[in-house]
Amino acid sequence: MPTLTQEPTTYGALVREGQVLLSNAGIANAAQETRWLLERALETTGLRLRLESDRTVSEESRSLAWSLLTRRMSGEPLQYLLGTQEFCGLDFEVTPAVLIPRPETELLVGEVREIAGREALPLIADIGTGSGCIAVALALALPEVRVYATDLSAAALDVARRNANRHGMAERVRFLEGDLLAPLAGLGLECRLAAVVSNPPYIPAGDLAGIQREVRREPQAALDGGPDGLAFYRRLLREAKPYLAPGGTLALEVGQGQAESVCRMAEESGGYQLMQVRQDAAGIERVVSAQFKG
Ligand SMILES: C[S@@+](CC[C@H](N)C(=O)[O-])C[C@H]1O[C@@H](n2cnc3c(N)ncnc32)[C@H](O)[C@@H]1O
Repeated sequence: MPTLTQEPTTYGALVREGQVLLSNAGIANAAQETRWLLERALETTGLRLRLESDRTVSEESRSLAWSLLTRRMSGEPLQYLLGTQEFCGLDFEVTPAVLIPRPETELLVGEVREIAGREALPLIADIGTGSGCIAVALALALPEVRVYATDLSAAALDVARRNANRHGMAERVRFLEGDLLAPLAGLGLECRLAAVVSNPPYIPAGDLAGIQREVRREPQAALDGGPDGLAFYRRLLREAKPYLAPGGTLALEVGQGQAESVCRMAEESGGYQLMQVRQDAAGIERVVSAQFKG
């Protein structure tokens, strides 16, 4: 394992050494990632890193920089090291307790925003909320909306609550711990939801061992979609029905190649109509929405 120099060092030397280390570790965007990690470790800005390259770095900062760079070299996701990820133009806290929000999930937010925006006082449920990114982005986009956000993971819900606070949405997003829609029971929401939205775990269990090393560091419970990757869709299609208002929508993010199966499952499940599929920026069928007939 290569090591950073033990001599007193400067911003410029750390930038050069960090780039070499990350690049040798196979990190594609080594130069940019080094700068972001050093900005964090040295509590400085990208501009200062450039302009003050002769500035001496304290022993403490150097050791923090070293720790972040080595963790990144070992495959820890950049976002966990930085502690944040942007989603829908907002900054979200992320920790290893939550899935890192993905850009393609913004499509799901756009879809639900359009549907729920037609209602006067829409009620929405976000199932498997993780960092809370979908729930909080929807609450911010739709001032009249109330969101019920569930997750099985108490640790994820802690992060989600902090994200709702961070964006001033704590009053309009209610976080509930439990299995899929089970925590909604007893809240008087039956037949009232304009939309149930979910980005559930959808990787087939047998594929988990072969996924990118960074993704393997994300919570297993956020990834494992059962033997065929479709286990959560079966349950969501069935369990959302008692809560959806007539004409309400179940909007689901799906994995590559799963849209057709999910549409077929919606048909077979009964009670749904007007299945729609939307593609993400890469042309992958990414969001399936189905209207509940009631
Ligand atoms: C793919 S992640 C999505 C997180 C977030 N909604 C997003 O889009 O970034 C799926 C989430 O579902 C949660 N989850 C898994 N099984 C669950 C269950 N049975 N009931 C509720 N939540 C569950 C996981 O803890 C994880 O936070």
